[in-house]
Amino acid sequence: MSIRRLAVLTSGGDCAGLNAVIRAVTDHAAGGQGWDVIGIKNGHLGLLEDPPQVIPLTPDSLRGDVLRTGGTLLGTTTKGDPFAFPGIDGKLTDRSGDVIAALKKLGVNALVVIGGDGSMRLFHRLLGSSGIPWVGVPKTIDNDVPGTDYAVGFFTAVEVVGEALDRLSSTAASHRRIMVLEVMGRDSGFIALYGGIAGGADVILMPELSYDIDAVAQHIKSLTNNRPSAVLVVVAEGIQRPPDDRRTGGSVGAAIAHALQTRTGIDARCTVLGHVQRGGTPAMFDRLLASTFGVHAVDLLAKGHSEKLVVWRGGNVTDISIAEAAQGPRFVPLQGEMIHTAGGLGIYLGKATS
Ligand code: F6P
Repeated sequence: MSIRRLAVLTSGGDCAGLNAVIRAVTDHAAGGQGWDVIGIKNGHLGLLEDPPQVIPLTPDSLRGDVLRTGGTLLGTTTKGDPFAFPGIDGKLTDRSGDVIAALKKLGVNALVVIGGDGSMRLFHRLLGSSGIPWVGVPKTIDNDVPGTDYAVGFFTAVEVVGEALDRLSSTAASHRRIMVLEVMGRDSGFIALYGGIAGGADVILMPELSYDIDAVAQHIKSLTNNRPSAVLVVVAEGIQRPPDDRRTGGSVGAAIAHALQTRTGIDARCTVLGHVQRGGTPAMFDRLLASTFGVHAVDLLAKGHSEKLVVWRGGNVTDISIAEAAQGPRFVPLQGEMIHTAGGLGIYLGKATS
């Protein structure tokens, strides 16, 4: 079946570079292939409204600063499971059929889903028997989508972490303090590892490796010859709390700072970066990835492919099956180059749990 109308949507947590993907898809699909392109608002939620919430997309309407802007002009969602959708009475109903019906009613005969591994699983299940061809584009600051070296948004987050460490470094040196920087990463430590290396961290703690808080303190003491000095510690939000942490409700970064101050006698402070990592203008590499991914996604659909995830591997754009991508999340490869690099730099990383 030849494609006449392509829809594009963003799904899951936002990040920088989403608009650059939307622009690339639209430019290549409308400008290159001559397809009609529409954007679906707020992920799958836009398809559950009556009428479905969509906007027309043209190369002309996306000219200018769209490439440079953070967030997603379409809106996104992490809520409202269509297989168990909460009604106003709180009752959960299966509305997955409504999503497909809305796409058909809109005359959509190809779809690009820009999302993380959770969104790929959701749309794999949703669109399975719909007959609507679709392709996924990986995005997430966590970089934990299986099968791709990098997802859109990751390098912007790494830039933010690196810049935060640059700034913390000077204030840490002035006061001879330990500065703990808590970064995002619930399951995977890519942001902590890449940002920590780029920003000159002395310690990086990530979910994939277990740490011994006494060994971290010992490492810091050996670096500082037991005298107060500037120390940078990066922790991913998903690490275990320190064993003697009695506090409740505080961030894991604050708990680490407290534990290190107690053990080293060096004043410690914690900064939680939070959603700063997701916002703002995309880094250049994210714009390149977004542009390459968007064009490749349209190429795949034009060649009659479906259920593929566009990926970046070894410096090239290629694609894998959605089924492979849906087996997330991806973890930092412990035998990989970046772990080796961090070790070579003398950064404390902890050790593998199994
Ligand atoms: O999945 C990306 C991510 O940034 C996680 O690292 C973080 O835990 C989460 O999103 C926060 O999402 P939100 O607060 O938007 O629900």
